[in-house]
Amino acid sequence: MARLAALLVSLAMLMAAVTAARVERAGAGFYTPPSPSTCGLKIGYYHDKCPHAEAIVKGVVAAALHRDPGVGAGLIRMLFHDCFVEGCDASVLLDPTPANPQPEKLAPPNNPSLRGFEVIDAAKDAVEAACPGVVSCADIVAFAARDASFFLSDSRVSFDMPSGRLDGRYSNASRALDFLPPPTFNLGQLVANFAAKGLSVETWALFTSDASLLASPATAKMVVDNANIPGWWEDRFKTAMVKMAAVEVKTGSNGEIRRHCRAVN
Ligand SMILES: *[C@@H]1O[C@H](CO)[C@@H](O)[C@H](O)[C@H]1NC(C)=O
Repeated sequence: MARLAALLVSLAMLMAAVTAARVERAGAGFYTPPSPSTCGLKIGYYHDKCPHAEAIVKGVVAAALHRDPGVGAGLIRMLFHDCFVEGCDASVLLDPTPANPQPEKLAPPNNPSLRGFEVIDAAKDAVEAACPGVVSCADIVAFAARDASFFLSDSRVSFDMPSGRLDGRYSNASRALDFLPPPTFNLGQLVANFAAKGLSVETWALFTSDASLLASPATAKMVVDNANIPGWWEDRFKTAMVKMAAVEVKTGSNGEIRRHCRAVN
């Protein structure tokens, strides 16, 4: 519940930043974010393999948000929760099986609060109909989070999401407990938790505005600047999303393209 509240606060900040940016954008210069390391991923990876893949996912996300805007926050949170446990490999999507009765999905940080699984299923079905066996569930999760931030921000947050991730075959609830920061973490624990994934505390600030960040003068300034400088928040949010979506990705022979996102092949 605390986690959900934190997410809603950060989305409210997104909306505030977006509104401020719209009003003041005329005077703002363009900021070019540094190219984040994307670990073998490529922008337009499906350009030849499945030309409409990204557009198909975007259409499904648009329809889902039209029905229920709240699911957008769920899709952004899903990327975060997927990437922090076994890397961005769709391990969070796997359903329990007799051989693996406790996948990540059933861990307390995800169950019952994580939302949007049916949107990923719908996107996968649509993409499979166009190009069977080509587009990974892990890439669909990343595209869907990118598209959700686009729609939630009224198109202010718009960016290319590198792709080429493979889907993992391992999902263990106890690993989700090891890596997803609980709402009770203090600032030092959050910094260490993000550093372990090669991410900065700024990335955390961009994802979940947390009371512990506002309690420290240095990070409180960062959170306030995020909300007050036109375009600042959006530019960093884009970079943070791309960085987060590159955590421990599988791109070689250590993964597969799942046929169904809820089960390994
Ligand atoms: C999940 O992780 C726990 C703790 O590391 C381990 O004891 C358990 O065997 C793992 N389960 C599976 C199915 O690998």
